Amino acid sequence: MPLDIVMLGPPGAGKGTQAARLAKHYGIPAISTGDMLREAVQAGTDLGSRVKAVMDRGDLVGDDLMIEIVRERLARADTANGFVLDGFPRTRPQAGALDAMVNEGGLSIIDIAVPAEELVRRLSSRRICRDCAAIADPASVERGATSCATCGGMLVQRSDDREQVVRERLAVYERNTKPLLDYYRDRPSFRTIDGLQPPDAVFGAIAEAIDGMAAPGGGDKVRTPLVPEGPRPGAAG
Ligand code: AP5
Repeated sequence: MPLDIVMLGPPGAGKGTQAARLAKHYGIPAISTGDMLREAVQAGTDLGSRVKAVMDRGDLVGDDLMIEIVRERLARADTANGFVLDGFPRTRPQAGALDAMVNEGGLSIIDIAVPAEELVRRLSSRRICRDCAAIADPASVERGATSCATCGGMLVQRSDDREQVVRERLAVYERNTKPLLDYYRDRPSFRTIDGLQPPDAVFGAIAEAIDGMAAPGGGDKVRTPLVPEGPRPGAAG
């Protein structure tokens, strides 16, 4: 049965941090639309040049483009057993498109809640690896670490993590993405998690919620398998 997880929450809530951990725990790929776009910018592709200015000012890339990117990514064979989607959907049209791409009753929707001032604090001090995009441990950044613990690459600040852009991203979240909570709230597989807890505790709470939904009767949803093995229907492979 595919385990299709959607991570919701404002910028800095810990979606990326937890998506990586959930992916490892459940053996499914973490798919971050932000990482995909940043890779395209770094590689200087046509996509990268189309989205760079939008991202640098903290705005959202257009729905049609994002839906196409995610449709192609979810058609790959490695999502046959599920995925952790981080950064998508962010608008109502994106949420509708996702429901049409997968078995919507099978989505596990996790909203990580964190107050705005903590988000600004986290994002202004965040550093990521220029080479592998891993998020550096905040404690090691505070101690002065300049290289990635995973691959040794240089730690850098994201261009949209400057305080002014962070505030714009939070405003964009309030306007465009927060309304999605109402779109999902009534589904039995929707959970809000307190993201102010330490990362280990946040992870434990999310895993417990997901395991509870998958248990018989938990969440009262039918986890109909899309495909028992191999790629999803229409997968490019
Ligand atoms: P994206 O990369 O998705 O950015 P975001 O949603 O703004 O989220 P962040 O990556 O900033 O935060 P996060 O919640 O993942 O937190 P993290 O785990 O890193 O998108 C970037 C841009 O791409 C968008 O602005 C837009 O332009 C474009 N884009 C992407 N997807 C799009 C879409 N679908 N449609 C349109 N445009 C799109 O944690 C943050 C920091 O806090 C880290 O330093 C971390 O170590 C720390 N931390 C994490 N958890 C904790 C904790 N529990 N306690 C203390 N510190 C913690």
